[in-house]
Amino acid sequence: MTDQQPTDAPLHGLRPRRTRRTPALRAFVRETSLDVSQLIHPLFIVEGTGVKKPIETMPGHAQLSVDQLEGELREILPLGIRSVLLFGIPSRKDAAGAGAWDPQGPVPKAIRELKRLAPGLLVIADVCLCEYTAHGHCGIVHDQSGVVDNDATLPLLGRTAVAYAAAGADIVAPSAMMDGQVAAIRSALDVAGFLDTPILSYAAKHASAFYGPFRGAAESTPAFGDRRAYQMDPANARETLVEVQLDVDEGADLLMVKPAGSALDIIRQVRDAFPHPLVAYQVSGEYAMLKAASQRGWLDEPRAAIESLVAIRRAGADQVITYYAKEVARWLSTAE
Ligand code: PBG
Repeated sequence: MTDQQPTDAPLHGLRPRRTRRTPALRAFVRETSLDVSQLIHPLFIVEGTGVKKPIETMPGHAQLSVDQLEGELREILPLGIRSVLLFGIPSRKDAAGAGAWDPQGPVPKAIRELKRLAPGLLVIADVCLCEYTAHGHCGIVHDQSGVVDNDATLPLLGRTAVAYAAAGADIVAPSAMMDGQVAAIRSALDVAGFLDTPILSYAAKHASAFYGPFRGAAESTPAFGDRRAYQMDPANARETLVEVQLDVDEGADLLMVKPAGSALDIIRQVRDAFPHPLVAYQVSGEYAMLKAASQRGWLDEPRAAIESLVAIRRAGADQVITYYAKEVARWLSTAE
């Protein structure tokens, strides 16, 4: 009988594999997209000219002097990268981190150069003092105890943000984890006339071991103590809502979670609780792990890197800061 079904096969069995059979079906049901327009490319700017000093712990990245930015743009613009995040490494450091707000410092100079060469590129400037203080802490310290004076640091962060806005930064991104820093920066920007400069707040930032390679790159390892008295305990998640709510109340326009790969639950929590644009930072240690294993042949690098970024997007990030931006842009353009 032709209308008789074999009894050992389910009639209407749920078979999720049906939609995985071909590349076309898989692409059709894919829930999360990854596009080069969602990647933010970090740059480390040093003083001087002709400097392109490779960063050992972050293969593929180098400290660059401002004159090298033209070459960098020639690489990233054709790849479709639309945004960069700037960090500065001054040649001189002091107790207050005065280099941070020097209009002739590496970051303001880099902002002006990028805006001259590529006005449409989105330039985000990290606002912190750790690269500029001799002790490597993110704010003012009065002694070797490593205790950062929160309120004495706030006006300095405000000045720094104003210097970057004045140079033409599209967005300022405070990462010092001082209480009240978003409010302090907002009022400093407003008083200086930069009412339209948005603040991307590193709202939830763990005191993470995964920042290790960055501190080599930015020469910002604390000379004593650590950052656990101002950055969040990686064991905490609920505290995120307190941190983020405060930053939103203080005027944050965009939010960031950092690190990303070890804080996917935090990204999801912020995504669900706040409607703001959300950025996640795949930090230096996440990059270094993927790179090192790939270099040993232990991982398929393009697949592993893309999977890690898709996971961050799936957790709820709109944009991802990643040291893989250039490579992933290339891999995405050749992927099926
Ligand atoms: C500055 C800052 C750090 C990172 C971004 N901004 C270092 C830190 O907090 O110690 C780390 C980024 C990375 O690891 O890629 N406060």
